[in-house]
This record gives sequence, C-alpha cells and structure tokens, in this order.
Amino acid sequence: MEAWKAGLEDVIAGRSAICQVDGEAGRLYYRGYEIGDLTAHVPFEDVTALLWLGELPGAGESERFKARLGAARGLPGPVRDLLQSLPRDTHPLDALRTAVSLAATFDPDTRASDPEANLRKAVRLMILLPETVAAWQRIRNGKTPVSAPTSLSHAAYFLNLVDGHAPSPEVARVLDVVLTLHADHELNASTFAARVAVATLADLHAAIVSAISTLKGPRHGGANEDVLAMLLEIGEPSRAERFVESRLGARAGLSKHERGNPQMRVPGFGHRVYRVDDARARVLRGMAKSMAEATGRQKLFEIAERVYDAMRARTTLPVNVDFFSAVVYDALGIPPDFCTSIFAVGRVAGWCAHALEQFADNRLIRPRAEYIGPAPRAVAAR
Ligand SMILES: CC(C)(COP(=O)(O)OP(=O)(O)OC[C@H]1O[C@@H](n2cnc3c(N)ncnc32)[C@H](O)[C@@H]1OP(=O)(O)O)[C@@H](O)C(=O)NCCC(=O)NCCS
Repeated sequence: MEAWKAGLEDVIAGRSAICQVDGEAGRLYYRGYEIGDLTAHVPFEDVTALLWLGELPGAGESERFKARLGAARGLPGPVRDLLQSLPRDTHPLDALRTAVSLAATFDPDTRASDPEANLRKAVRLMILLPETVAAWQRIRNGKTPVSAPTSLSHAAYFLNLVDGHAPSPEVARVLDVVLTLHADHELNASTFAARVAVATLADLHAAIVSAISTLKGPRHGGANEDVLAMLLEIGEPSRAERFVESRLGARAGLSKHERGNPQMRVPGFGHRVYRVDDARARVLRGMAKSMAEATGRQKLFEIAERVYDAMRARTTLPVNVDFFSAVVYDALGIPPDFCTSIFAVGRVAGWCAHALEQFADNRLIRPRAEYIGPAPRAVAAR
C-alpha cells in the first residue's frame, strides 16, 4: 500500500481535464485558458459553459446557453417558504445547504442521472444558488425577496436580487470577474466532496449539498468571512502591524494542535498548493484597490495592504483568494457572514463541472486508512 500523507497532500486522487493549478508559478488555467485571460475577455456564463462542455462557446452557443440559464430564473415557491420559516440568525450557508436539499425533493429530474438530466439539473442549480443566497440575505434583514429583469447578465441579475435594483455596469463587471475567479480550483476540499458523493452514484443535488457543507469551514471558503471580520476588527491601518505581530507571536509556545485553531492563524494566507501569491489574488488586489477608491472604503483596503506587508515581512505564506476578495465584498456592501455564499455562487459552476466529469467516467472513490489502533485482542471476561 502507498505511504500515508497527512491531508492527502500532493496525492493524485483523480484525473481531470477541467482545471490546472501550477502552485510553483502561481498560475491557474481552466481547460487550458489562463485565468487572467478569461477574466479579461470572457463573461462568467461563457466560463461556466467552458467548464461544463469543454470549449468556449461560439456566439450562437453562448446565446443558447444564456437563454437556458435565463429560463431557469426565479425562486421556487417551496424554497421561498422554507427561507421564510428559518430563524433569522441562520448562517447563510446553512440556509443555502438546506434549500438545495429541499430543491432535490421537487426537481423533475431527481431520480435521473443521465447526461441530459444532469445538465438540466446543473442549469437549475446554477440559478437556485444565487436566487437562494439573495433571497435569504433580504429575508434575514426583514425585506421581501424581489425578482429582477431577465435581460441582465448572471452577475447583474444576482446583485439586483440582493439590492432590489440593477447595479452599475462597473459593479456588475466586478462581480462577474469575482465569480470567474472562484468558479473552479481543481480538487479543493468542497469539489472533492462533491466528486466523492457522485462516485457513489448519489445524485447531483446530493453532491452540491456535500460541497456546500464542506465549503463552510474556516480552512476553506469560511476563511473569506474571517478575513473581512479580521479587517473590520483591526479597524485602523495603524493597528494592522501590531495585530499581525501579536497573532503570530501568540503562536510561539503553543502546541501544534493549539496552533491549528483558526483564531491562531491569519485568515487569507497559506495554501496547500500555491507556494507564491496566485494569479487570482493579483487580480483581486487590483480590483480591491479600485473598488475601495470608488466606494470610499479605502481605509479597509489600506488595512488589508498593511496586513499583507506585515505578513510578507514575517512569513513565506502566500496570500490566497480569500484575502483581497473580502475587500472587494466590503466595497460591494457585503457583510462578513455573506462572503462565503458569494464564493458558492461562483464555485457551483466548478462543482457541477466536476460532478458531470465524474458521472461520465466513474469509479467509487474509496481510499484506505493506515490502521494505527490496538492489535487484534479478545474482550476480557465481564
Ligand atoms: C489554507 C490552509 C488550510 C492550508 O493548510 P495546510 O496545507 O494543511 O498547511 P498547514 O495547516 O499544515 O500549515 C503549515 C504551517 O503553516 C502555518 N500556517 C498556515 N497557514 C497559516 C496562516 N494563515 N497563519 C499562520 N500560520 C499559518 C501552520 O500553522 C503550520 O505551521 P505549524 O504546523 O507549525 O503550526 C492554511 O494555510 C490555513 O489555515 N490558512 C488560513 C485559512 C485560509 O485562508 N483558508 C483559505 C484557503 S484558500
């Protein structure tokens, strides 16, 4: 048997033609296209088609794909009723997970997992997530969910659902880029969870529920909200360096287990695969700066820059996608506990792509554990 690797680090756990991560160079490719090239030239809907179908759609195909997404728009009545019944302090990701679980019960293709049925479900899930996330954000703030003009792009439609009015083209473009940057990332924890579910031949909704559940933790997508909460807690650029120093300093003298506590780490830094700052972080840093300037939220950007410099001076940990995206979310008026839901609205494209790929060429994912417990022994007389 292969030697055990903690956290499956660097273990090849599957083959995929969707996404390539070059951790040494900090580069990311979707089906061979570099992420910066995609964000500069391709809208999120076409990126989704690329991830699912393998090639960038031509003009006609792109229109047909957008029309399919557009036709799925609207918050299903049962999901709306469910959200209305939830305690108002329910975490947005818990509301989302529960809504997807409920949607499985009335999806017309629930019991089918052939390629066409899966594609129809993927389209519905692409829409269900933003509809649910936006509706819950309104309901928990005492507002009524709204509908939005169907002519809007995916990103603009979502922002309209959240805010009750269409965003400016500039703001819609920012979210479009953010969604593409989050759309996929190889075998990250939530995508792996989705593929494990699919490999048992559980259905697509089950896979997406597994993925949302896994995204929530602070080692993964949950770091997004921790970053924004941290920057707000620091409050002033002049306090950033001291904050970093005291958080890193507090780690000295702690056991490895204690150092693993998210409160003892600086969220938004470190990565299992990247050794250097990645391309997504570079794009987000630029956007965070211009968005912060455009919305008068420069102070938070300044705090983020100071934290970044303080981490650079003291560690070799790369900055990750969650760090500057939190500044962008703040400039968009998004509160900390809503950040990871936006991540999910983008990543559902990748979850579905990987699920479709797994369905197309499946074998049960069932690794082994190296047993380290007691040797076989008899139960003593009792
Ligand atoms: C992303 C992450 C989970 C990767 O984990 P990993 O590859 O398993 O790396 P480890 O948790 O083994 O960390 C390796 C060492 O770097 C330290 N480290 C990693 N990230 C750190 C951070 N953000 N702040 C402080 N120390 C960090 C660890 O404490 C560990 O040292 P130790 O064992 O002496 O305590 C980890 O870097 C992290 O927790 N980052 C903060 C949360 C975050 O931003 N998550 C989003 C990822 S996109």
